[in-house]
Amino acid sequence: MHRKLDILAGQGYVVLRDRQGTPIAPAEWESLQYMDWKSGGDTNFAPLASATGEMDCRGFWEHDKPDKGGIWTANRELAPGLVGYVEQIGGTFGRVRVIKLNPSDEAAALRQLHRDDNNRLNPDGAGWVVRSWLELDDAPGESVFILRADRDDPATETRIPLHPGMQLVIDSERLYHVVWHPGPRPRYALITSWDSDDVIDRWIRRELPAAGNRGADPPGRGSNPGNSQLPHPAAHRGVLQATAAEGAGSPPPRAQVVRREPGAPAALSGGAGWSPSRPGRSARSP
Ligand SMILES: [Fe+2]
Repeated sequence: MHRKLDILAGQGYVVLRDRQGTPIAPAEWESLQYMDWKSGGDTNFAPLASATGEMDCRGFWEHDKPDKGGIWTANRELAPGLVGYVEQIGGTFGRVRVIKLNPSDEAAALRQLHRDDNNRLNPDGAGWVVRSWLELDDAPGESVFILRADRDDPATETRIPLHPGMQLVIDSERLYHVVWHPGPRPRYALITSWDSDDVIDRWIRRELPAAGNRGADPPGRGSNPGNSQLPHPAAHRGVLQATAAEGAGSPPPRAQVVRREPGAPAALSGGAGWSPSRPGRSARSP
């Protein structure tokens, strides 16, 4: 049994407010050294912290350690804003990486639904490793995080439209996940593995939005997302939709929960003709 965060117990994810503070220059992620590493699509990864400090995308288990105690790589010097973001949070981190995701269509993205392998070698009693995402560059309102409790059951699906600056925390070993990014440019995001400890718990609670967009509470659960389990699929068809106009020049949309009734068409799913594919890959992505 590992220590897990109450805030993630209900849904397995939480959408935080946008990152505050000075904008991070795109040069920070565009100038990094990327490695050819496929996980969740046509991806490259730039390690900012790895198991040994080397440019290594492999799981920490390759070095006989759980996904904690990450050591900064040479990329650190190129990305002071990204490093500062992680250090300011102050928790115990493992892998810290920037993902560069090339565009795909929806069917290809759905085939990449996977769970992460975050807790290999993580001993009983220790904090469960979860991951945070900081969106750096995407197609605002069009790039979408797809989460499923059951990979083959779209009724268990939640979609979260993304925009730069958005912060999320996901128990990515519990939920199948993938980002569908239509492009045309690559999507970049900072992904960090975190120990579930008091520090990260306080950070998440500080970063909760003032109201409304932390994710759908299951019916009858009230406002406390901490003491519930994932609802029965039929009861939970929450979809996060953008509320702001998405025309050219409009501000990035903010996520807001709207509940989808069972049997209703999947919103933000690519329109008519969309049908969930059956992913053929079963291996956990590192
Ligand atoms: Fe993943």
